[in-house]
Amino acid sequence: MENSPPLVELIDVSKRFGRFIAVDNANFSLAKGSVLTILGPSGCGKTTLLRMIAGFESPTSGEIRINGEPVQAVPPYRRSIGMVFQNLALFPHMTAGENVTYPLKMRRFPPQDIPELVERYLGIVRLTGMKDRRIHELSGGQQQRVAIARALSFNPDLLLLDEPLSALDKKLREEMQLEFRRIQQKIGVTTINVTHDQREALVMSDEIIVMADGAIQQSADPVSLYRHPSNMFVASFIGLTSLVKGTVVQTEGTTVEFNVDSTILCGNAGSRFEVGQSVEGAIRAEQVRIHPEQTRPEEMDNVLEGVVSEQIFEGDRMVYQVQCPSLGSTPIFVFDHDPTHHVLHRKGDSVVLSWNVRDLLVYPCR
Ligand SMILES: Nc1ncnc2c1ncn2[C@@H]1O[C@H](COP(=O)(O)OP(=O)(O)OP(=O)(O)O)[C@@H](O)[C@H]1O
Ligand SMILES: [Mg+2]
Repeated sequence: MENSPPLVELIDVSKRFGRFIAVDNANFSLAKGSVLTILGPSGCGKTTLLRMIAGFESPTSGEIRINGEPVQAVPPYRRSIGMVFQNLALFPHMTAGENVTYPLKMRRFPPQDIPELVERYLGIVRLTGMKDRRIHELSGGQQQRVAIARALSFNPDLLLLDEPLSALDKKLREEMQLEFRRIQQKIGVTTINVTHDQREALVMSDEIIVMADGAIQQSADPVSLYRHPSNMFVASFIGLTSLVKGTVVQTEGTTVEFNVDSTILCGNAGSRFEVGQSVEGAIRAEQVRIHPEQTRPEEMDNVLEGVVSEQIFEGDRMVYQVQCPSLGSTPIFVFDHDPTHHVLHRKGDSVVLSWNVRDLLVYPCR
């Protein structure tokens, strides 16, 4: 069988607004049927990237291909793309059913096919029986589902989601993340989702692209991205990560020793470092162990004394923030995943922290 081209392909795509570079030389391709999430902080260029793919904005340079064809000359309504916007952009005076009907009429679907399609897509998003409700008679999560049904009803090649969940409360947002995943898997529509919520990216995606300042920092599947962040930005953006800065005093193989304030830490180096070089270390909260004071943890490579400065109980876990005098002012975050059975450390308690070399990732200073 002939290899089909990627559904979406960006080649050296940049977008400038005047002298400002909103998207800086983006390259990626997306296979048919997969879910890609673009993750990054506010203002990093996510919406701009999505709007270029949808055709509302054209690249300053580079090329976008859909199904292997350059789309520069194709207007948005001719691209087979369903889009759910951050504010949903539903028609408030219409019913749920009329909202879902709208794109079908626009695209001149045969009128006799429309009622069945509307029923079908309202069913897929679990709104059977809500067809005649007006938008303001629906809950936030139900409105969300109408927007998805409307974006999917004409069977687009590509679904674009621009933070459609950001307005929802945490619980509903987490439910809708799983709901999206379910709908996507049922329909198999290729999807690009934009978010600044790391959990949403990890839950919903086959592939994640992390962006900062218009540039792609890393592209990987969720587990690889979490395990092997390729630079300090990605390491600090995903997970709860403590950051320590220092100067290299010795290297041996992949192990690097560096001086932080009045102590020496030992970390895992992804690249080669010179003695005297400035580096940053990143350690995830779940890799740090917390012990009562005076404990001498065996078989741990880095052991530090500290004082609990915050204790945040989240039910299924405890988050400690610990101030270690030998690290200066930098706090270290620690998760305890079994606060029901483990010793609790209170604010002001002296504790001992420990972790392993392999878990302290060391990067060149930005
Ligand atoms: N039409 C425009 N004219 C000038 N600057 C723009 C325009 N659109 C976006 N920008 C700038 O480009 C940058 C990227 O904007 P964009 O909307 O893509 O960010 P974003 O990653 O979607 O952010 P958020 O998470 O806040 O939605 C921002 O600094 C923004 O101010
Ligand atoms: Mg945006």
